[in-house]
Amino acid sequence: MKAVVFHGVGDIRLDTVADPRIEQPTDAVVRLTSSAICGTDLHMVRGTLGGMEPGTILGHEGVGVIEDIGPSVRNLRRGDRVLIPSTISCGYCSYCRAGYTAQCDTANPNGPQAGTAFFGGPKSTGPFNGLQAQYARTPLAHASLIRLPDALDDDRAILLSDIFPTGYFGAQLAEVRLGDTVAVFGAGPVGQFAIASAKLMGAGRVIAIDRVESRLDMARRQGAETVNFDHEDPVEIVMELTGGIGVDRVIDAVGVDAVRASSGPAANDAEKQKSQFDEELGEIAPGRDPAHGEWRPGSGPSQVLQWAVRAVAKAGTVSVIGVYPPNDRFFPIGNAMNRNLVVKMGNCNHRAITPRLVELVGNGSFDPLSVLTQREPITNAIEAYKAFDTREPGWIKVKLEP
Ligand SMILES: NC(=O)c1ccc[n+]([C@@H]2O[C@H](COP(=O)([O-])OP(=O)(O)OC[C@H]3O[C@@H](n4cnc5c(N)ncnc54)[C@H](O)[C@@H]3O)[C@@H](O)[C@H]2O)c1
Ligand SMILES: [Zn+2]
Ligand SMILES: [Zn+2]
Repeated sequence: MKAVVFHGVGDIRLDTVADPRIEQPTDAVVRLTSSAICGTDLHMVRGTLGGMEPGTILGHEGVGVIEDIGPSVRNLRRGDRVLIPSTISCGYCSYCRAGYTAQCDTANPNGPQAGTAFFGGPKSTGPFNGLQAQYARTPLAHASLIRLPDALDDDRAILLSDIFPTGYFGAQLAEVRLGDTVAVFGAGPVGQFAIASAKLMGAGRVIAIDRVESRLDMARRQGAETVNFDHEDPVEIVMELTGGIGVDRVIDAVGVDAVRASSGPAANDAEKQKSQFDEELGEIAPGRDPAHGEWRPGSGPSQVLQWAVRAVAKAGTVSVIGVYPPNDRFFPIGNAMNRNLVVKMGNCNHRAITPRLVELVGNGSFDPLSVLTQREPITNAIEAYKAFDTREPGWIKVKLEP
């Protein structure tokens, strides 16, 4: 079969590899009809989320049809059309039962303390071969896979594999309540769903911060007020827009590849912190290797965290869903502590959150389709990765068709 394979930092290829087979009685093999590229994949290719094993198939978003199934999976059958949530969970450990399915004790072969198990990730997350492929083995299929209603087409379903649940999780962690003012840093696909979810939870105002105009346009179409951090200082503008108080909640939908402002008033501040940011990057991603301007890591790993703790009101909540690697230790703790902030973070508990979103989209109460801007055959995967990596105008969410 064809699959997108990680060979090294800055080196991904569309390879021909062996088809997966059932290995455990709880496995299913799914023939993928849709996959997608996520910002998390970019961290791995850029080298800011390290520990990838060469040969791992990338991708953790998928929709498909069950091709083969182990005898212990009693709730699904060959031929069922399913959604594959990004993270893998067992459904029976104490964490799964409490809804922390991204911290399942069973799924990660590295043991219960190893943390989240997900498709197409670093060694410490499994590793499991990913979903940017024609077929995939999905472990613990009874508790991981979700059967899809016929009414939910692939274009909508693929958005439910990871990014809509993650945006929703971000708004949940942020404790968004009726009337709140919420700032969302990052207007990529995850940020778009954080905006939508904050609104679903009753936010009165949402302020979206990014520097990619086509992404800010999409945020504005959702009703957000927008700030381009290459033109204005985002903290100053947030303060101005909130009567000097700050926002009630902040969601970081950027993660470790945050960039510092390259022009405008925020660039002066960034220049003063240049050596600190460079030091952070050196420590977090020693193996980075930006070839010809591609796969370039963010220039300010802690930039969004710094802005977040300054833009939120005293005693407000900061929610971090942007991904930071385990070796990252740069968080502005003093500012957060002295302003009595609540800080919540983590990997999305997909299996706990997704079923109700499948319901919401399946019955037409909410339509996520506008976030999907690109549909590419898997044979164009590497080119599609490059366009998403460099944030070409209009490239927001990329679906791959295997
Ligand atoms: N926690 C989870 O379970 C989970 C799941 C999926 C994705 N993620 C993470 O969510 C993040 C976003 O994913 P995505 O697919 O939207 O990625 P993306 O790379 O497409 O989007 C990131 C956006 O952040 C913007 N940005 C960069 N620096 C910024 C700054 N200083 N201030 C404001 N915006 C800035 C970029 O211009 C870009 O539009 C990634 O870190 C990804 O790994 C987390
Ligand atoms: Zn993802
Ligand atoms: Zn579990």
